[in-house]
Amino acid sequence: MTDLRKAFFPKLQRVLLVGLCISLLLVSGCTKNSKTDPEDAILPSSFFDDFPNGEQLEAFRRHVQEKAASGEPLAPSFKHNSRSETMLAALELKPTDVVADVGAGTGPFQVFMLEQDAPFQTMYAVDINGRALEFLLFILNTMNYPDREKVRIVTNRFDDVMLPADSIDVLWLLNTPAVAVPAVAPDGRPIYQHDEQKNCILSITKALKPGGRVHVFESQDTHGDSDMFPFINFAFTNAGLHPVRQELIDLQPDGAPHYHLVFEKPK
Ligand SMILES: C[S@@+](CC[C@H](N)C(=O)[O-])C[C@H]1O[C@@H](n2cnc3c(N)ncnc32)[C@H](O)[C@@H]1O
Repeated sequence: MTDLRKAFFPKLQRVLLVGLCISLLLVSGCTKNSKTDPEDAILPSSFFDDFPNGEQLEAFRRHVQEKAASGEPLAPSFKHNSRSETMLAALELKPTDVVADVGAGTGPFQVFMLEQDAPFQTMYAVDINGRALEFLLFILNTMNYPDREKVRIVTNRFDDVMLPADSIDVLWLLNTPAVAVPAVAPDGRPIYQHDEQKNCILSITKALKPGGRVHVFESQDTHGDSDMFPFINFAFTNAGLHPVRQELIDLQPDGAPHYHLVFEKPK
């Protein structure tokens, strides 16, 4: 039993309940009709449980094939906050950067970056959902982007991003609260949801090059009125990263702003 668990053991049930609520938020944050998704996106940004079923998946695949045949870009088929110009600008990428998207889902941001000719050397698309990543692979092969070989697919474990040590210049988490957002302890302070979350963030620290950065983007809408800055700060500073920036930014035309926090691995 960890020190943290010992400290909070009498209230463990409440903490677990909060963890469960955050997990439910994650699932609702991934659904096509969530509050964070004002647009009627044609393609989902993530898969979960029994979504999509065989028929839905076939329709999504046909849509990709039609876009490939017509030569039109695919990025506009995803909801706007998953493929935001503002987010790409905030990442300040360089052509030599090795980058990673943790919680990449079906890859809306990979599609956007490839269609925008965004600068990077290698990009890891990391997700625990292998079916979502299979769909991303289908997209990459069907759209046949010139830079598609620069994208590497990683199906990771919940507690480990499974990236090479000291390899990443810039890593981001976009609306992936299961990793980026701690739970609330009974006294109101932030607490990791569970050891898996803590270990996952430690594995992020390990994967970064010294001087490498993590960008966290979290929709304000998903978290109600609570101020998430101290919570997200807790999660990443406890894992050995230094906070360098925090702001609210708009990733979508009509939706709530997103928290944007940047952390750096000490050199
Ligand atoms: C709400 S979706 C966001 C997808 C995409 N980033 C976007 O905003 O369009 C969250 C994604 O995080 C993934 N995820 C949850 N926990 C994870 C973990 N520990 N490591 C990697 N991916 C994770 C889920 O499978 C899901 O695809």
